[in-house]
Amino acid sequence: MSGILRLSHAEVRVPDLELALAYYSEVVGLVVTHSEADKAYLKGWDEHQHHSLVLAAAPTYGLNSLAFKVVERSELDRLQDRLVAAGISTSRHEPGELGEASGETVRFLAPSGHTIDLEHGQGQVGNGLPLLNPPPAPDNLVGMHPPRLDHIFLLCEDVDAITAFFTDVLEFRLTEQIMADDGHQLTTFLERTHTPHDIAFLTGPDGGFHHLAYWVDEWNDLRTAADTCAYHGIQIDAGPTRHGATRGCGLYFFDPAGNRNEVYTGGYHFDPDDEPTTWTEAEMGRAIFTYKGQVQQSFMSVHS
Ligand SMILES: [Fe+2]
Repeated sequence: MSGILRLSHAEVRVPDLELALAYYSEVVGLVVTHSEADKAYLKGWDEHQHHSLVLAAAPTYGLNSLAFKVVERSELDRLQDRLVAAGISTSRHEPGELGEASGETVRFLAPSGHTIDLEHGQGQVGNGLPLLNPPPAPDNLVGMHPPRLDHIFLLCEDVDAITAFFTDVLEFRLTEQIMADDGHQLTTFLERTHTPHDIAFLTGPDGGFHHLAYWVDEWNDLRTAADTCAYHGIQIDAGPTRHGATRGCGLYFFDPAGNRNEVYTGGYHFDPDDEPTTWTEAEMGRAIFTYKGQVQQSFMSVHS
């Protein structure tokens, strides 16, 4: 299995770890796999890995790092060589060095200003179901209980450059792009999992973090997630709605620290030899929010 398998996890800053942990475990319904004084580790119920979200106590909110999963150790070496050949400085970390259950990791600072880990061998805890004759889901799920992490949406100043870096060096495939009238890429969607996106970049400040999205299985789950937000007094940013780009459907809301979350479903299958879809700047509103046809100002607020 060559190259990057998928998005593995993200480490997000929260000023009040206890409050954030209550929100992510009881409202979002992620499973807590480990917690300590200044960090907590969580996962979607159907993930077998130890974590897909790390909460780090810090004075500010935002993104510390994101990680991609690499199944073969030899591929970790090969990708590190590709990064070095591209002039990117890397560091190598032993299992456990970067936190609870962390695997062997190649860490680097991407040209977009984001700290990215390529991780092999994160600890496995299983999905809570027996491996022999399992039921369809555990019977102790709460909140939105998304089964797994889906994608991350980031910002940077030079979307053309980071897109070329992700395709040329990290071997991602471009699925969709929103082109500015001057010929530059305003937004790009990139995949390794044959979905519309595992990661996307929007023009903005370097190191910017827009949202982290967990998968839900169907449109009705977005309604239930919105009901859950309303019940718990969680601020909804947008949706439930459909995106033009990715053809998916989503609901956006904020954690207590101000980090934007999404639950997402839909999309399509993308083969490695498919051609990317292009949206024009004039149609950017419909590319992001199909029904409104425009992007509200609050949705463009970001943090780094
Ligand atoms: Fe998204």
